[in-house]
Amino acid sequence: MQYNLWIAICIICTYQEAVYALPGGAPTGACTTMMPRHSNGANGFLASQSLASSPYTLMASKRNYTSTEAITVWVVDSRASSDRGYRGLLLQARKVSSSAPVGTWMNVPADTKLITCSVANDAVTHSNTMVKNESSVYTWKAGGNHGNIEFVITTAQSRSTFWVQQKSGMLMHSSASVSTSTTFSLLFGILCMAIF
Ligand SMILES: *[C@@H]1O[C@H](CO)[C@@H](O)[C@H](O)[C@H]1NC(C)=O
Ligand SMILES: *[C@@H]1O[C@H](CO)[C@@H](O)[C@H](O)[C@H]1NC(C)=O
Repeated sequence: MQYNLWIAICIICTYQEAVYALPGGAPTGACTTMMPRHSNGANGFLASQSLASSPYTLMASKRNYTSTEAITVWVVDSRASSDRGYRGLLLQARKVSSSAPVGTWMNVPADTKLITCSVANDAVTHSNTMVKNESSVYTWKAGGNHGNIEFVITTAQSRSTFWVQQKSGMLMHSSASVSTSTTFSLLFGILCMAIF
């Protein structure tokens, strides 16, 4: 009886391990910590690399965001082109100093997929272990004013080498779109030229 119980526990533990090392993407259990739980072969998990050692930079197409405009986000890699890229990721936009994702992602690139942490499609993860690079561009919309936000990503180069919760610069909410105001200045300039 005792023996059967231990076998059952071992099967459950092995199954849990498989779930946390999924090559098909981060499980929603990782939404808050964004920490991959890759087994170290003993009783624990592999540690992340220090963020200072990360070859990646998380870029955003805008310095501020509006409620409705799409913003694109991508990862630049400082290494030589033959070494560039990452295989696993978990990407969210977060209110600064909060772990809750905000906004939604759409039109995800090849080899990635949308997942739901708190609301539908508020995070992106890998769908396989193919290499992703700066051509993998992620599209996000705020859908409202979330105050100051930042993009946060965990990237895995391999099962044992990963960087957790790397951040973009901070973005503030702005009510007028940047492109609209640029267009407005341009029209205003043309109007002034026509008058004077
Ligand atoms: C990104 O990876 C794809 C597929 O491996 C490759 O075709 C493309 O040239 C790479 N792009 C850059 C900018 O390195
Ligand atoms: C971002 O928005 C803030 C507040 O609305 C504004 O003060 C700042 O100038 C904006 N910065 C850029 C780069 O648009």
